[in-house]
This record gives sequence, C-alpha cells and structure tokens, in this order.
Amino acid sequence: MSKFKRTLITTALPYANGPIHIGHLAGVYVPADIYARYLRLKKEDVIMIGGSDEHGVPITIKAKNEGVTPQDIVDRYHEIIKESFQKLGISFDVYSRTSSEIHHETASEFFRKLYETGKLIEKTSEQYFDEENKQFLADRYIIGTCPKCGFEKAYGDQCESCGTSLSPTELINPTSTLSGNQPVLKETKHWYLPLDQYEPWLREWILEGHKEWKPNVYGQVKSWIDGGLQPRAVTRDLEWGVPVPVEGVEGKVLYVWFDAPIGYISATKELTPEWETYWKDPETRMLHFIGKDNIVFHCIIFPAMLKAEGTFNLPENVPANEFLNLENDKISTSRNWAVWLHEYLEEFPGKEDVLKYVLTANAPETKDNDFTWKDFQARNNNELVAVLGNFVNRALVLTQKYYDGVIPAAGELSDFDKETLASISTIKADVEKSLDNFRIREALKNAMDLARLGNKYLADEEPWKVIKTDPERVKTILNVCLQVTANLTICLEPFLPFSMDKLRGFLNLEKMDWEKLGDTALLPVGHQVNKPELLFEKIEDSVIETQLQKLENTKKANEMATAKAAPAKENIEFDDFAKMDVRAGTVIECEKVAKTKKLLKLTIDTGIDKRTVVSGIAEYYQPEELIGKQVSILVNLAPKSLKGIESQGMILCAENADGTLSIVSPDKKVKNGSEIR
Ligand code: MF3
Ligand code: ZN
Repeated sequence: MSKFKRTLITTALPYANGPIHIGHLAGVYVPADIYARYLRLKKEDVIMIGGSDEHGVPITIKAKNEGVTPQDIVDRYHEIIKESFQKLGISFDVYSRTSSEIHHETASEFFRKLYETGKLIEKTSEQYFDEENKQFLADRYIIGTCPKCGFEKAYGDQCESCGTSLSPTELINPTSTLSGNQPVLKETKHWYLPLDQYEPWLREWILEGHKEWKPNVYGQVKSWIDGGLQPRAVTRDLEWGVPVPVEGVEGKVLYVWFDAPIGYISATKELTPEWETYWKDPETRMLHFIGKDNIVFHCIIFPAMLKAEGTFNLPENVPANEFLNLENDKISTSRNWAVWLHEYLEEFPGKEDVLKYVLTANAPETKDNDFTWKDFQARNNNELVAVLGNFVNRALVLTQKYYDGVIPAAGELSDFDKETLASISTIKADVEKSLDNFRIREALKNAMDLARLGNKYLADEEPWKVIKTDPERVKTILNVCLQVTANLTICLEPFLPFSMDKLRGFLNLEKMDWEKLGDTALLPVGHQVNKPELLFEKIEDSVIETQLQKLENTKKANEMATAKAAPAKENIEFDDFAKMDVRAGTVIECEKVAKTKKLLKLTIDTGIDKRTVVSGIAEYYQPEELIGKQVSILVNLAPKSLKGIESQGMILCAENADGTLSIVSPDKKVKNGSEIR
C-alpha cells in the first residue's frame, strides 16, 4: 500500500430525517463496505466510520410538521437507519450520531480553534427575517426563484433543479416556508470561512496533485474553483444544532455542513483512543465515500476547514458516485419513490446479499444508473442462482453422492485442469486491480468470473457422465471443482459476506485471508464437507409483480395528491342550464355488454318511462351491485347507438383525478322522475 500504513474510510452521514433507500446504498454504503471488507481480508489496518447527520433545517421542519421535537425525529430515524444497516451487513466499525455529546464537544473545539487563530471572518449583513415567527430564514426555511435557472421553488441554500448552491439573498421573490410571508431584511452577525483565500492552495492540491481522482469528481471540483470561490458562512441563526461556542453569542448554531463532516472525527474518537493516529499520522490514508451531491463539501469546504485547523490529514481520494434512479424515475423521499431498506429487509428475508449484488453490478459509478425490479430478478436468477449457486451446488452434491462428502485426491491434471486452476490467480489480480482503483462494479464482475469459470469447467467435464466410464478421472474433476469453490469463499467474501459464510459452512472451512486466494489445495484430500443447501433461491415473477404494483400505487397516490382541479368553464345563462333535463331514476336491470371491457347496459325506471342506457362504468361497478340503486340520468340527450344498442340518456358520474368514475346519486331516496337541478 505504498506510503500508507492504514486506511480511514468515511461514509457520508445520512440525514436522520428519513430511512435509508437503495440510492444511498448504491452510492455510498455498499461500495464502502466492499472496499473495507477487502482491506480487512488483506489484513490491513482499516476502520470504517459512519453515523447519522442529525442537524439541519429539514429535520426541524419535519419536527414542526409532526408537532414533535427535533430530538424525537432524529431518535426515531437514527434507530431505524442503524438497525437496517446492521441487518444488511454494512460493517461499520462505529456508527455514531451528531447529536451526541462527544460530537458537540469535538465540533465546538474545532470551531473555537479556527475562531481563536483568526481563520474566520466576522461579518454583519442583512439577512431575511420572518416577522411573524421572529426567525431568520436560513437554508430551507426560505424558497424563491432560482436566479440561474428560473425554478420557482429553489431553497435558500441550493436549487434542486439545477444544483447551484445559493444564499437566501440571491433568490428572486423570496418567501418564508414558515409563514408563507414575504420576509424582511434585518442585520445579523455571522462567521465565514474565507474560501477565496484557499483557492491557490486548492488548485495545487487537487487540480495539480490529484489528477487520479475520478473524472466526475475532478471535473466538478475544477468547475467550482474556476467559477471563483466566495467566503462561506459557517454559522446560522437557528436553535437546533451545535451552539456557536463564543462568549455572549446566543441563538446561533454551526452550519450543518460545518459540523457534520467533523462527525467523522467525533465517531473515530468514540471508536478508539487511538483516533489521532487515524486523523493526523501522515501514514494514514483517508478516503471519503459519498454521493455526487456531496462533492463540493468533501473536496473543497471540509478540506479548507482541515487546512485552516492545521493538524489534520486531507483526503487521499474521494470516490464519489453518481445517482441511482428507480424504474426510470428520480428517487425521491418526498414522493415516496424509493425502495426502502427496512422494507426490503422485511420483504426479502435472507436476501441481503442479493440486494448488495444487484446494486454493485449496476452501480452508478461513472454515470447515473437505473434500478429496475426486472433487472433485480434477472441478476438473481441468471447470475447468482444459475451460475454461482448452480456450480457450487452441483460440485457439493456430487461429492456427497460419489464420496460421502470426503474430498477425493486428484490424479494427473489435464491441460484444462491446470488452466482452470491457474486462472484463479489471474482473477485475483484482476479483482485487486479493479478494487484498488475503486472500480467496484468491475471488481464484482471479475470475481464472478471465477464462478463462471467453475460452472463452465463442470459443464464441459460432465463428471456425471464420466463416472460411468472413468471413475478415477471424476476424482480429479471434483477435486478441481472443490478447490475453485473454496477459492470462491475468499474471492466473493467482500461482496457476498453472508452467502460466503454459508458456503464455508457447507465446506466445513474456516474464513481465510485474501492472501490464500489462488492456493489450489485449500481443501486437503480426506477433508469432510457437509451436506449443502441451496445458496440462492430463484425469485418468481409474482414477487416482482408485487413490488411493481407497490410502485404503481405510489405513482397513483402521487398523481392524486398533486392533481389540480380543471379551471371553471365560461359562464352560461340559467336558460342554457335549464335545457338539460336530469332526473332521478332507479336501475332495474343491468348486465355487461358482451365483448367489451368498459360498457354496462342498464334499464332505468326514470319515472317517465323505462329505458335503456349504455354506460362506460363496467370497470368500476359490478352489474349486481347497481340493481336497485338510484342514479342521476340526463333524459333529453339525443339517443345514440353503442355496440348496436340504442342508449337513451346518460348516467352522471364524477370523474376522479386518476380517471376512475363514481356515480352521482341523490343523497336520500326520492321519487323516480324527480328533477335534478
Ligand atoms: N447528510 C448529508 C447528506 O445526506 C451528508 C453529510 S456527510 C458529512 O447529503 F460529511 F457531512 F457528514
Ligand atoms: Zn436553479
């Protein structure tokens, strides 16, 4: 590992205002976990840090909406998040939280050091204030039109439409999200980190010194620096957060993006008294695993803070990922458009590795990517089940059948045997090269090549046929298969830890270091293996249908929630209205119109006569349930032939936002023929 002796892996601290979804996982936690497990298998000194980000305006807004305290909100989600990570097997060495005492102390101390060494600028300026709520409007407390792209609901800190980072005074038509009022300007004092002063240093450190960073990361950093850096306020007029640790200052807290990354330091302190070794020894390599929306904070602002403080290491790399979409639509917490981790764990027990596998195989490493349930099913059935599971199952079942589970000795090796065994080391080198360059998706593909290799070897050698003609040869074939299987438990361990644990159970094998990968005698002759079970199960269509239906329901609910009533039509005179003759009538007969999906044929007692009406409501009503029901019928509509039936009138319905129809009935039973007006 060249000049480094140890690695500190940080993972973006998720906001504790909602549960974890597949976007978080694919972008940050799954790749970080794979990388950490890989280094641990290599016996390197590594720690992986995580925790909840519990400050910030979205949390206080949610608390206010629910009528609870911000602490209630973060307590709730911190638990859900922590538990779901643990169940998925994300192997944090510590999972901390920023409302903890140790974090408040650490963040205060950090700020105080910058304050006392003159690294911050104190500035009084005019900021928007909500007079009704007696509150300054920071970040998401204020919305307005984005000066860059014209989006009308840009927040005070960022436009979610074009991604520009903003300050409230740049918004056009600012409105308080608390009261809906126009805010007024009022003077307030804040502390700023003069990012402009760090520009030459940032250029040298990143643009010159870290050209190896991923193009998406490097490119974003470059365009930020080229756009010119401005002093950035690191305090806010809010109640919830780490109080500004300056004498006499009240009602001000540290900006959430100032305190949250310091959370990495606090969490390390919580983990180990050796925390300074991980943060200050130049032989420690620090890596930040994040999503693309966090790049500027981890590549510019936090490094500038660390530089200003003066005693900490800077990140060696920031392998940020792009975004994951779900079924061709942006994942969104507010629209509930997500696959939630805690729900997945409930609905797919024992399939933790499957989710990790799919999210890695389809990771948004170089561009945004799409998660679809069909792809999830296909990758499970065609790769995990049909290749990996199938290979190890056949190898183990045949070993039971022919040798009672005792590893047979190999005879003389054929060229194909030798080639197959030699490939293990080639694959090992490929996986290493990919992982060392944070190409996790490619690394998984490389590792799965070992399963593909084994599966192909077995299919080509056909021991189930050879057993009839040359039983000695079968011993060699199965020995080769079993050595490949044993190597799989190392090669796939970083990616599929639960499944490899299970496989080691079948093989009656201890966990081995990465170094052992490539050894073709991992299973000694005479070693007893156990009866295998299935490593992976096929996922049926009905399971996928259920998930798709769930998303369909979400989409419908969102459409309903956002649908606007059509504007009123032009005014008419009463006489125009009076031309319509609408009556109360009772359905006396009703049946489906043959060969149609939508039409019902009804006979209605209108009080005037008994007449036939054809109506497009068959998808919403069964014929039986309508008989005896009183409806409103337009009786003077010119008759019309539908499917060869003459319809003499129209039944009035309300059309819902999703297009479904609901019959309009008199509220109380009235005499048939009563006029409706
Ligand atoms: N909570 C932030 C987000 O979800 C990430 C914070 S990362 C940290 O976007 F470095 F600030 F901790
Ligand atoms: Zn914008």
